[in-house]
Amino acid sequence: MKEKLQQEFLRIFGREAQGVYFAPGRVNLIGEHTDYNGGHVFPCALTIGTYAAAAKNADHTLRFYSMNFEEKGVITADLRELKKEEAHDWANYPKGVLKVMRDAGYQVDMGMDIVYYGNIPNSSGLSSSASVEVLTAYIARELFGLAVDFVEIAKLSQKAENEFIGVNCGIMDQFSIAMGKAGHAIFLDTADLSYEYAPIALKDAKIVIASSNKKRGLGDSKYNERRSECEAALASLKTVLNIQSLGELSEEEFEKNRSVIRDIVKEKRAKHAVYENRRTIKAVAALKANDIEEFGKLMIASHESLRDDYEVTGKELDTLVSAALSQEGVIGSRMTGAGFGGCTVSIVKTGAVDAFIKNVGGIYKDKIGYAADFYVVDAGCGPYTL
Ligand code: GLA
Repeated sequence: MKEKLQQEFLRIFGREAQGVYFAPGRVNLIGEHTDYNGGHVFPCALTIGTYAAAAKNADHTLRFYSMNFEEKGVITADLRELKKEEAHDWANYPKGVLKVMRDAGYQVDMGMDIVYYGNIPNSSGLSSSASVEVLTAYIARELFGLAVDFVEIAKLSQKAENEFIGVNCGIMDQFSIAMGKAGHAIFLDTADLSYEYAPIALKDAKIVIASSNKKRGLGDSKYNERRSECEAALASLKTVLNIQSLGELSEEEFEKNRSVIRDIVKEKRAKHAVYENRRTIKAVAALKANDIEEFGKLMIASHESLRDDYEVTGKELDTLVSAALSQEGVIGSRMTGAGFGGCTVSIVKTGAVDAFIKNVGGIYKDKIGYAADFYVVDAGCGPYTL
């Protein structure tokens, strides 16, 4: 991979790259739509992700090229005047990160030429955009010798997504990518960013991702709408409870007070946020106790809640999950990421994986009309230099 990126850099920019770098994608095992509600999440970084070859240049120009979007050619921007431009498409992600870093006082004072190549399927819900953001911050750190740690990189990348791209996402994606640890998932409390690594000890089972191939962009999805529905529900609950976030509530406290929300839709959204947070805490305890079956049951309950109360699944993801649950050797299955398309994550007994892919793939194609893609994945580490 290193040589492939070096060669492409030479071909595009006519000189040698200074380095080749990598940042992973992520999959969330449980804890969905909880990260902007002060709740817990349990994602892991993947071994697939985004690679880039990069070098500083002598002026103030940023030149970005993606091997995944060759038709867009080299996209250029002036480092001193970074603003979001529709025509810059994917390059708005690295631009946003560099803008936020500069605004925060990090001395990125010269341009860079960067070639990117990602092996995460785009718009699949495995966070290809957060991977590009974290990777770009990591490259700036390496090339400019910046004193910026990985938690800060996660925060800056989230800020870029919120303020530059305009998607009000939580911290989960950027945090899990920046802080990934091979073989582990991260149990993160988004209320205070305290975290703990938990080994993914699945005994004789594998993590299988199924991509629905229904494309979604967070920006044009209902993501921001869900977030404001939760905020409105919280505001109502605050009239009777002394809380800062939905993540502080137990199921019982929520049940006792839910009637103050007075809007059936917002009540359902808040219910999901509260129960999903509690499920996540229970799921991590189950995994630690080696109770994979219980972990799987909580995954299934998570999907049902995302389908019925949060309403972010849709026909494609529901078909993948119900097909998965009709198979032998499936311990749990749910949608992962923002929803409205993207991927599901399933825990499948090793011996049943081939049949799972064949059968779920068949059912999906029959029902939806086009194919799903499957990936058997491992938990990988955070950003590194090749
Ligand atoms: C997207 C966002 C995350 C998180 C998930 C839903 O991936 O970027 O912050 O909210 O959706 O859990």
